Amino acid sequence: MAETMRVMGATGDGVEMTELPKPTPGRGEVRVKVIASAVNAGEEKVISGDFVGRFLHAKSSPLVLGWDVAGTVDTVGDGVTDIDEGAAVWGHLAYSPSQKQGAFAEYVTSPRASVAAKPDDVPYQVAAAAATVAMTSLQSLRDLGELGEGGQVLIIGAGGGIGSVAVGIGKRLGGHVTGVCSTKDVERVEALGADEVIDRKKADVLDAGSAYDVIFDTPAVSSFGRCAKALRAGGTYVTTLPDAALVMGMARALFTSKRCRFVQVASKRADLELVGGWLSDGLEVPIDSCHKIADLGSALKRQLDRGRIGRVVVDVAEGWPS
Ligand SMILES: NC(=O)c1ccc[n+]([C@@H]2O[C@H](COP(=O)([O-])OP(=O)(O)OC[C@H]3O[C@@H](n4cnc5c(N)ncnc54)[C@H](OP(=O)(O)O)[C@@H]3O)[C@@H](O)[C@H]2O)c1
Repeated sequence: MAETMRVMGATGDGVEMTELPKPTPGRGEVRVKVIASAVNAGEEKVISGDFVGRFLHAKSSPLVLGWDVAGTVDTVGDGVTDIDEGAAVWGHLAYSPSQKQGAFAEYVTSPRASVAAKPDDVPYQVAAAAATVAMTSLQSLRDLGELGEGGQVLIIGAGGGIGSVAVGIGKRLGGHVTGVCSTKDVERVEALGADEVIDRKKADVLDAGSAYDVIFDTPAVSSFGRCAKALRAGGTYVTTLPDAALVMGMARALFTSKRCRFVQVASKRADLELVGGWLSDGLEVPIDSCHKIADLGSALKRQLDRGRIGRVVVDVAEGWPS
């Protein structure tokens, strides 16, 4: 009989534990025993039937979500020779309309190229909290924004999941970081290392003239049209959502020297290794709360709470419903 594993599936009105066959790693893949995961904005988008949610996960039943993975290699598929069973790893499961797996499960499989060794001094909970938001930040600022030494970057939503870690990553890329957040987050964003902080409740965020090389709109609220004036010639606006404003922004950017880009996060071993080193070295990923997997329902609710400060982590290895 096929071996099974426990999973937490989202139902219309909550979550419930069920069992599924343990996944088998294909060629070039590893199977990871999940120790910790975290909640992202994506869960609610899929559960609520939001249009964007269709691009993040398949409508599978049971609906097992959770894209952040930190755990240990349980077994390796054919062709994987550079990592041993038992190795601690971390990564992000791909956002995809065909994604049927989720890390709110005892095991997931992943391409070997999409996970990296977790540094020993980085707790599983921190690695899980960092995976999606740190990859998104690094790829937005470095790859799309081409942020380098001395570059001016404006991070909108600097108190949020992506924004908080983007502040530290922007600094590590050599940028001069201005964070935009609500009054309640100003001190926290300063403590994360932002060179300047704009309280969006008190000041016009885009009133600085053509000041920025990169504007990273983490909550996708400002649009290229609104931000273009605040970008220097050759500057880049990066958004996180593929919406109508993005399409209009890309069309408008064709007629200027400024660029409008959309980030589609990808889990890449080299990027995870780079960020893993930064986490060892003190890159902060604020954690709001840790929840047992049995309390996944509370974790999903906490993610939506306006008072949340940082990432909502889920302990998957322990704490299953009895
Ligand atoms: N494209 C990708 O690959 C990718 C990857 C990961 C996530 N995402 C998406 O990225 C988005 C952000 O994710 P997250 O985890 O950072 O969410 P989050 O933790 O909820 O943070 C969003 C932040 O934006 C701020 N904000 C909300 N409305 C704002 C406004 N009108 N002006 C300025 N700031 C505002 C919020 O703070 P205040 O309201 O308190 O100011 C909050 O700090 C989500 O939609 C998620 O689905 C995309």
